[in-house]
Amino acid sequence: SKPKILVARAIFLDIIDQLRTKFDVEVNEYDDIWTQDELILHLQGKQGALITSSEKIDAKLLKACPELRAVCTLAVGYNNIDVAACTAQGVLVTNAPNVLTETTADLGFALMMATARRIGESERFLREGLWRQWDIGFFAGQDIHGATLGILGMGRIGQAIAKRGSHGFGMPVIYHNRSRLALEIEQQLNARYVSKEELLQQSDHLIITVPYSPEVHHFIGQPELAMMKPTATLTNIARGGIIDEVALVEALRTHQIAAAGLDVFEGEPHIDPDLLSVPNIVLTPHIGSASLKTRHAMANLAAQNLLAILDPNSTPQPLTALNVEVLGIKRN
Ligand code: GLV
Ligand code: GLV
Repeated sequence: SKPKILVARAIFLDIIDQLRTKFDVEVNEYDDIWTQDELILHLQGKQGALITSSEKIDAKLLKACPELRAVCTLAVGYNNIDVAACTAQGVLVTNAPNVLTETTADLGFALMMATARRIGESERFLREGLWRQWDIGFFAGQDIHGATLGILGMGRIGQAIAKRGSHGFGMPVIYHNRSRLALEIEQQLNARYVSKEELLQQSDHLIITVPYSPEVHHFIGQPELAMMKPTATLTNIARGGIIDEVALVEALRTHQIAAAGLDVFEGEPHIDPDLLSVPNIVLTPHIGSASLKTRHAMANLAAQNLLAILDPNSTPQPLTALNVEVLGIKRN
C-alpha cells in the first residue's frame, strides 16, 4: 500500500494530484483552522506531512505521531518546527530555501520604498477624500536612491535586497550578520560589514532579514531604536518577534525614527491595536513570498521533498533537509 501523508493546508491541485500518484493523501481541502489536537488527530497513521508556517511541530505532537518520518514545510523559515525533537525521533525535516528568495526580496524592497515615500499614509488620505490642495511639504518622505541601505541578516534574501539597492538604486550598502561574507561577495554587492551599533547609527533604511531564533528575540528594542537616525526607516520581512513592537510604536509616535514597514508581527495574525493607530507605518499581512509563481514553486519543492523521502524503492534523498543526520549522514 502507498505511504499515507497529510497536506495540512489547501494547496495547488496539480501538486496534490502528483502526490496522489505515490501516496494516500489526506488534504485539508476546506483550509480549516485546526487546533493542535486536531492536527495531531489528522496526522494519525501518516508518515509524511506537508505543512506551512501555521502548523506547530513540537515534541508533544511528535510523541503522539510515532509513524511520522517526514515533515516538509513550504516556507523557508522553520521556527514553528522543533528540529532537534524531530531529529531525536528520526523525523526528517525540510524547508523551502532559494525558491522564494527573489520574490521576498522584491516585497522587502517594495515595503521599504512604500515606507520611505509614505505611500500607505498618502493612499489612505486620498481614499478618505481629504485631498484639497498642494503644499510644499505634502507627504514629503525620504529618498531611496543614494541613501544608505542597512541589512540585518545577510543570508540569501538579504543579499538579494543588497543587489537591488546597490545595482539598481546606487545605495551604499552596510550589513551586520553573525558571520562576515566572503570578500568577493561583499565586492559584488558593494556591501560593507559593520557592527550592530554602526548599522543602527548609519542606516537610512534598515531592513531585517535575519531568521528568527531565540537569540534574536527583540533584537531591535528601545536602546537600538534610540541609536537610529530620526530620518531613518525600519522594515521587517523576517519574523515579528525580532522587533519589540511596544518600543517601535513609541519610537514612531515620538518621531525617534521616521517610519516603519512591517510584513510580520509577533502575534500574527493578531495585530497589536497600537500599531494600527500609528500613521507612519506600512503594514502588510506576511506576503513576502506571495507571487503565484513562487507560491507554486514553494509547494512543489515541499512535495518533491516528500516524494524523495518516502519513496519506498530507494533510500531517502531529500532536496533541502535541515537534519540529514537523521539518515546517518554527517553534515559538513
Ligand atoms: C515565510 O515567511 C517563509 O518563511 O517562507
Ligand atoms: C533565506 O533564504 C535566507 O537565507 O535569507
